[in-house]
Amino acid sequence: MNFKKELDTKVDIVNQYLDGFIPQAQGYAEVIYDAMRYSSFAGGKRLRPILMLSAFEAVGGVGEIVYPFACALEMIHTFSLIHDDLPAMDNDDYRRGKLTNHKVYGEGLAILAGDALLNLAFETMITATKKHRSWEAIDAMDVIAYAAGIKGMIGGQVVDLISENKIIDLDTLHYIHKNKTTAIIQAALKAGALLGKGTPEEIEALDKFGYCLGMAFQIQDDILDIISTQEELGKPIKSDEKNGKATFVSLKGLDFSKQYVKQLSQDAIHYMEDFKEKGQFLSWLSEYLMSRTY
Ligand code: IPE
Ligand code: IPE
Ligand code: MG
Ligand code: MG
Ligand code: MG
Repeated sequence: MNFKKELDTKVDIVNQYLDGFIPQAQGYAEVIYDAMRYSSFAGGKRLRPILMLSAFEAVGGVGEIVYPFACALEMIHTFSLIHDDLPAMDNDDYRRGKLTNHKVYGEGLAILAGDALLNLAFETMITATKKHRSWEAIDAMDVIAYAAGIKGMIGGQVVDLISENKIIDLDTLHYIHKNKTTAIIQAALKAGALLGKGTPEEIEALDKFGYCLGMAFQIQDDILDIISTQEELGKPIKSDEKNGKATFVSLKGLDFSKQYVKQLSQDAIHYMEDFKEKGQFLSWLSEYLMSRTY
């Protein structure tokens, strides 16, 4: 199978499972289901679940348990985007090519839709863990909970927010990127490797791969915020400048940032070498993301 075909197949699988895990509108609170589904099916790349499926496959994982976990990660990611776009945060009007959640449902419901997706993620993982009675699943949940919390994504978002319109040093910027974006990407790979019962060496290699890929991904996001278009990205450009965000590009310039993305992506690929053919898809994905335009 070629890379693009395999990628499309994985996106389809994730979309099908996600559709099953996020309930259809029902009861008195039906609007919240609509709001949750609106952002969840607005057309995200599904990168994090795909990374988890690929890590699971790279260590020879078998069975169904990876799907609820992969979908849970996409729910956490979508929650983080809904809140990231709120007027109190980045105040952006478009996401995934459509109006942002708060623009359609209002701020109150957007906050609640984000909260509901975060909670549903943990409900989904716990239900799967009970069903499979799996210790690996508990370890994977631990990794995901940590990465989504104050020592991960939330911590990164906090420092991103309080650093607006301030001059920050490279260490602080590194903290922001490492936590707000890389933590969840790294968790996707580590949790996938855990669920697939990888060896300690395999888990460590995928964790390191995730670190390099995650950092490259956020720096590329900073680059695209400047050089891309809203049509291509599905979200506004120049959002970082508007909010006075320190980014890799503002601190180190465009050329350095592009070069750094390249270097990190190559470092990531290096960690896949021992996986031989089983690591091929993740190596391709790293290369593909390095030159992504959206
Ligand atoms: C956007 O993530 C937020 C960042 C961490 C840069 P993605 O670029 O993966 O967004 P979707 O899921 O495809 O919309
Ligand atoms: C957001 O970073 C990372 C999250 C945890 C949501 P950005 O604020 O740069 O993401 P975009 O550009 O809005 O997607
Ligand atoms: Mg932000
Ligand atoms: Mg943003
Ligand atoms: Mg951005």
